[in-house]
Amino acid sequence: MSAIVVNNLVKHFKPPKRGKSRKMGPNSTQRTMGIIRAVDDISFEVKKGEVFGFLGPNGAGKTTTIRMMTGVLKPTRGEIKILGSNAWKNQIAVKQVTGNVPELANVYLDMSGLQNLMFIGEIYGVSKQERIERGEILLKKFDLYEKRALKAKKYSKGMKQRLLLCIALMTNPKILFLDEPTSGLDVQSAKIIKDLIKEYNKEGMTIFLTTHDMEVANSLCDRIAIINHGKIISLDTPENIKKLTQEYQAIDLHLVNGVSKQEIKDLRNIIEVQEVQEGFHIIVEDIHDSICEIVDYIKTRNVKIKHLSTHKPKLEEAFLKIIEGGGKNE
Ligand SMILES: Nc1ncnc2c1ncn2[C@@H]1O[C@H](COP(=O)(O)OP(=O)(O)OP(=O)(O)O)[C@@H](O)[C@H]1O
Ligand SMILES: [Mg+2]
Repeated sequence: MSAIVVNNLVKHFKPPKRGKSRKMGPNSTQRTMGIIRAVDDISFEVKKGEVFGFLGPNGAGKTTTIRMMTGVLKPTRGEIKILGSNAWKNQIAVKQVTGNVPELANVYLDMSGLQNLMFIGEIYGVSKQERIERGEILLKKFDLYEKRALKAKKYSKGMKQRLLLCIALMTNPKILFLDEPTSGLDVQSAKIIKDLIKEYNKEGMTIFLTTHDMEVANSLCDRIAIINHGKIISLDTPENIKKLTQEYQAIDLHLVNGVSKQEIKDLRNIIEVQEVQEGFHIIVEDIHDSICEIVDYIKTRNVKIKHLSTHKPKLEEAFLKIIEGGGKNE
């Protein structure tokens, strides 16, 4: 069974009254006949144990989708199954197996970090013994243990976000939903969160996250859906998404002395060799295969390598290319 199954999901909003315009511009394709088609017929599955990312520009429909998946919003049409339970109709069953860190969520500011966790644990029926044990482990993991007695209103943004993750993990969920988990955080807080997402996923937790951050998507996600104007326009592994738009992969090679352009060109799977100031810019089909091939050949010629570097397409380039032409969402 898949962890999450989404079938033909649609969410329409009525347009805001005059003067109360939200993110939408009048020319957006999502807004026709006055209706805002925030999520426009999307279907996908998330496998158990997967980190699945929703990547898209502002107003693309990421938060609306996650809010339907977590039972906060009723879909206009379509269906979401979370471990076999309908996200809207079986909200209690869904809450029992999921943890959720919504966009713009907040902790209980007048409670300390520890009190926040104990309170949530109690609400969700975690036994006292387990609450105490789990709370301590989480606070230590998320580097909040020293500040556990401090009221959350005195926490920094990064600390609050880490506490929100602790809260979501307090019930030991099977699936964790994270809406922009590292947005606006400093490098250190973001790193703690990314490392722990990886750690929990390794232990078997399924993770669904939304992000604008290519680096987050690239380093964390097994698969990424790119969403724009409420539609999924690409769904694949980060590697394949990069390949999808890649013009080429290349190797820059500088040698101490002579190997000719033709010799390099005659090696396997070389698309093109350009002579540049200090050596060659070699366009290849597969970086890994070609590095081995080139290095092996150069060894046989007894020539020294002065410099070898690779150029791989970045996910950011792919993302921009994929959404290019679709116009802005806002
Ligand atoms: N409650 C609402 N009422 C009316 N329109 C809404 C509502 N919630 C979202 N929208 C609209 O739906 C569209 C999708 O918004 P959503 O918040 O899902 O985007 P997002 O991808 O999460 O964007 P961001 O990256 O800025 O968080 C936007 O045009 C937004 O204005
Ligand atoms: Mg959002």
